Amino acid sequence: MLITGGHSGIGLECVKRLVWDRPLNIVLAGRSPDRMKEVVGQLRQNGGTKISTLPLDTSSLTSVREAAARLRSMVEGGEIDTLQAILCNAGGRSFGPVLHSPEDYETTFAGNYLGHFLLVHLLVDSLAKDGRVVFTTSGTHDPDTRDGKAVGPAVEPDAWKLAKVGVDGGKPLSSGVRYATAKLCVILFAYELHRRLQRSGSSISSIAFDPGSVSGTSFLRGAPAPLRFIAGTSFARRLMKLAGITLGSLEVSGASLAKLATDTAYAQGSGRYFQVNDGSFGERRSATISYDEARAIKLWNASKQLVSLTTTEESPLLR
Ligand SMILES: NC(=O)c1ccc[n+]([C@@H]2O[C@H](COP(=O)([O-])OP(=O)(O)OC[C@H]3O[C@@H](n4cnc5c(N)ncnc54)[C@H](OP(=O)(O)O)[C@@H]3O)[C@@H](O)[C@H]2O)c1
Repeated sequence: MLITGGHSGIGLECVKRLVWDRPLNIVLAGRSPDRMKEVVGQLRQNGGTKISTLPLDTSSLTSVREAAARLRSMVEGGEIDTLQAILCNAGGRSFGPVLHSPEDYETTFAGNYLGHFLLVHLLVDSLAKDGRVVFTTSGTHDPDTRDGKAVGPAVEPDAWKLAKVGVDGGKPLSSGVRYATAKLCVILFAYELHRRLQRSGSSISSIAFDPGSVSGTSFLRGAPAPLRFIAGTSFARRLMKLAGITLGSLEVSGASLAKLATDTAYAQGSGRYFQVNDGSFGERRSATISYDEARAIKLWNASKQLVSLTTTEESPLLR
């Protein structure tokens, strides 16, 4: 199993659940080698699981291509077993100034969405026949919900415009809107991936997951100190609940991501959206716009251009 951002927060909790259940071969992909090594050390002591690490910055297309090549050679060389699942979990919101990737793409869009778009394209052929791709998204993608309104409603998922936010001058979108829209792109991609896999007769699943608002992760690390302090208090959680915000928890959200990756109960979960809210986990409707196939295809084609996907890189499963 490959997980991006598996060394902290919801991803780490998911990895812990996975290795509790059975000995497993897991690859942690991320951009913080020291922290990944630390996690490998801790988890190895807890069972017969084999955990490897893979350098990956999802906001850099060069890094994604290098990571995918390394992963494929690990599979082909027998260093790891067949890939059963790709958990596209890395991501987050940047609270500071607008930043740009080595390709000059806005990093919230690139790190949450575009890098995973490329990663999945490059690795889908390495997945087992009944493999799964699970995307960690966010309820903030839905402009009609409290979650969406709280960060600022997602805008039109126009890949070129989102990639170039802040590049050409002008007032950039707020950090909350950039985040919500990047997560909307993730869901549009997850559903379009599902449709294409189905059309190709593949049994690989593509599943979208909202962990709910979870405290105790590094998600708010770049936020102002008072917000970081208040967000984790039980008072703030009660207020959020009253306001109708979707609430997750490290334990339930991490365990739910692990279930989506492995549990046979979710074998029919492809093309669906699952959410944790207030201790319960189940299927929900995502934003109305996320089911718009024409938008999903437009986003897909523009994303192919943005990542300069070559014909050799494009899997026959996804054409
Ligand atoms: N916490 C919430 O309330 C909440 C709610 C809804 C959705 N989510 C989503 O849940 C996922 C996990 O978040 P979390 O709350 O567990 O926060 P977290 O503890 O900060 O975990 C995020 C992980 O993603 C990694 N990451 C971020 N950008 C990356 C990049 N460009 N390349 C490689 N790795 C990158 C981080 O690595 P580094 O340590 O190297 O930065 C970290 O391991 C994210 O996709 C987030 O958007 C969170």
